[in-house]
Amino acid sequence: MKNDSIPRHQRPTKLRTFLFGCPYYPEHWTVEDRRDDPQRMAAAGMNVVRMAEFAWDRIEPARGQLDFSLFDETIERLGKVGVSTILCTPTATPPRRMTVDHEDWMRVDENGRRMDHGSRQHCCTNNEEFRAESRRITQAMAEHYGANPHVIGWQTDNEFYCHFSQCHCPSCRRGFREWLRRKYGTIARLNAAWGCAFWALTFDDFDQVPLPYPNSNRPTHPNPTHELDYYRYLSDSLIEFQRQQVQILRAANPNWFITHNGMFGHIDYWKFTEDLDFLGVDVYPGFLRNMPADAVHTALWNERCRAASGGYIVPEQQGGPGGQRPYVHRTPAPGQMRLWAYQSIAHGADGVLHFRWRTCRFGAETYWHGILDHDNVPRRRYEEFSREGAELKRIGGKILGTVLDVQAAVLVETEQDDAHTTLNLHLPSPSNQRDLAFSEMWRRHLPCGLVQTADGLAGLRLLVVPSMPLMDDGLAGKLRAFVEGGGLLIVTARTAIRDRDNQATPMTPPIFLSDLCGVSVEEFGKCPAGEASFRLGGVEVPCGEGYEMLGLRGAESVGIWHAPKDAGPFAPAGQPAVSIRRVGDGEVIYLGTYLSPGNVGAVFDLALHYAGIPSLADAAELVEVTRRVKGGGGARPNSGVVPAYTFVLNHYATQQEVRNLPEGADLLSGARCDGKLELEPYGVAIVEEG
Ligand code: GAL
Repeated sequence: MKNDSIPRHQRPTKLRTFLFGCPYYPEHWTVEDRRDDPQRMAAAGMNVVRMAEFAWDRIEPARGQLDFSLFDETIERLGKVGVSTILCTPTATPPRRMTVDHEDWMRVDENGRRMDHGSRQHCCTNNEEFRAESRRITQAMAEHYGANPHVIGWQTDNEFYCHFSQCHCPSCRRGFREWLRRKYGTIARLNAAWGCAFWALTFDDFDQVPLPYPNSNRPTHPNPTHELDYYRYLSDSLIEFQRQQVQILRAANPNWFITHNGMFGHIDYWKFTEDLDFLGVDVYPGFLRNMPADAVHTALWNERCRAASGGYIVPEQQGGPGGQRPYVHRTPAPGQMRLWAYQSIAHGADGVLHFRWRTCRFGAETYWHGILDHDNVPRRRYEEFSREGAELKRIGGKILGTVLDVQAAVLVETEQDDAHTTLNLHLPSPSNQRDLAFSEMWRRHLPCGLVQTADGLAGLRLLVVPSMPLMDDGLAGKLRAFVEGGGLLIVTARTAIRDRDNQATPMTPPIFLSDLCGVSVEEFGKCPAGEASFRLGGVEVPCGEGYEMLGLRGAESVGIWHAPKDAGPFAPAGQPAVSIRRVGDGEVIYLGTYLSPGNVGAVFDLALHYAGIPSLADAAELVEVTRRVKGGGGARPNSGVVPAYTFVLNHYATQQEVRNLPEGADLLSGARCDGKLELEPYGVAIVEEG
């Protein structure tokens, strides 16, 4: 399913049916409890379940004794009513017999605590014996289901690294050393890349290299490149674990799609997704406390997946109030569960599975509410779910094959946040700056999204580099080509301050970008956001949490630093704070401070003056508007020629008016839209242009 000619974030999933369903756990229920499930699922419009991610002990009750009967029977009963199955490799919960005898398979957290059996993700995916078991169970399931027509795809494991990422077990120590050997070849190269001349860190041999955390008993902080390489290792080794499963599944049936449900720490999902057909992401807006304002965070969560994948699916979408031992979410209001599902679709999801079919009567998630309650009685949630099912059955086919229209984007890269962590100085991270920039564009209803640094930039008109500390020649060249081709680039403070070895260099920041931006950073310092200000476009704009004093090397200043009102002398006063430079057909804006809630509006007023990207509609800021179009790679659709769907999502609990929409028909209500719509509380419309 690879198509390299279009940017990956513009790649459709190639699913032939829009997926709608639930994760389902037949192993939790009696025959009697399950009796009506197939009919009820079909009646609700379901066409898929996801199963078996925690069922290893059920499938293999004793080593080598495989019992697929429960899943065979369930897959068959569901298949008969048109509900297909996504199976999962069950490696997030290896059976007790495996783990009690193998203490060395267990993960060790950053405080040196070894995990016990008793919840999940207790085994280390870098342990070779556990890997052999993972391959064995994957092989057995793949062979058994290879020809089953009702099994359409697989999810690897479940939410890799969702509880913690940083394992410090002996297998990880060994694996890390091997990874370093492969990367550096000689210990001298490692010593140079890590800067081991500092504090007598020099290693004589790879076997001396510890993991950065437990049992290190260091009086103070570790070497930042050591730490960054460890994060890279955590990602690469996990990708290898997954790849072993993927190879087995592909060999058994090349027609299966393979996915996974992310997004968690220290995984480079760009590389991770190379082995998959598309990525998935689990979406639980119930964790957000400040609705509707926090709706943008769910947009961002979806975007992180889309940036790595292009089209994607949501294997777990909130289906009711989630509850675990210390909390329970606020119950989604009527219509809100459906709204959240459409929010995922509005960003590019081609499948939504509401977690879970029926609320479990036991275990740590007894109060994690599914579509049906403990008593198996269909109520309000089942009705809302069925409404969604009926709608998606009707319109899903139209949406398939379309991708998010993205004209303004923020760059993302896992390694940049990891590098920031190692020397963070308690200053804003790339993801903090990403969130501020994206939120501003989202509130303005721009066609916007997140894009990976490794992806193609075709079709973008505005791009933000959000205080990414690491820079190299290759990325700098790509950004230059983007600007020369007519793009508007915004670079925020403390971008390009270190090389890929996580070291500062003899170059003046922004390293590799200084020519393109036409500035040099002559001085940097921390200051509280708002303490100083600069004048931009005739208005006084507060600084973010730091200042840079810019030397102009071809750029012109468009904002000058002012001294703080009540403080003493401020070094950069009178110096450039913001610059702009025309290069080729485009422009670069360099912002000598961090974005902050107080200045992001003014920065985007300036940027949009140059980039001139129109909003998708006029609406209150928490009415979300996105657009999905056919054809990727920046092909701008001509209204009425290429199918295009404008999604309008009302996150408010009150009715909202939306104006300046395209003309067309609302796919959901069938009503004609003449550019104006009224949306009920938590209402959704999808305007088919034309
Ligand atoms: C997800 C996980 C599910 C379930 C759900 C509700 O993170 O994948 O297995 O635990 O949360 O807590």
